[in-house]
Amino acid sequence: MMEDNGATAIDITSGSQETPQWSRPYWFMPQGLNADITEAIKKGGVKIPVWVTGKIDDPAVAEEILRDGKADFVCIGRGLIADPYWPAKVKEGG
Ligand SMILES: Cc1cc2nc3c(=O)[nH]c(=O)nc-3n(C[C@H](O)[C@H](O)[C@H](O)COP(=O)(O)O)c2cc1C
Repeated sequence: MMEDNGATAIDITSGSQETPQWSRPYWFMPQGLNADITEAIKKGGVKIPVWVTGKIDDPAVAEEILRDGKADFVCIGRGLIADPYWPAKVKEGG
């Protein structure tokens, strides 16, 4: 429906006010916790880019999500607030 109504991309997250451990993943939640539901949405036939958000602060996890085709983009929130140079460091192997 979003695609049909003009959305140019979809960013997937999860959780609610009642389940903040998903929307602002706590320390005990797994890396890339929304990757599987994002993959399911992609496999559902969405043609526009699908992004995934949520505790992607390990470069290996980010690469794996993209390599496995679970998402078209990875989104990083708190990690970039903590270190805006994270992507450049990863690119340079640092
Ligand atoms: C303090 C705080 C406030 C947030 N507020 C919003 C919000 O208003 N709307 C929203 O969609 N997500 C909000 N989020 C969720 C973030 O957009 C993001 O999905 C979440 O931090 C997981 O990504 P990250 O692990 O890369 O930070 C908030 C997160 C934090 C930590």
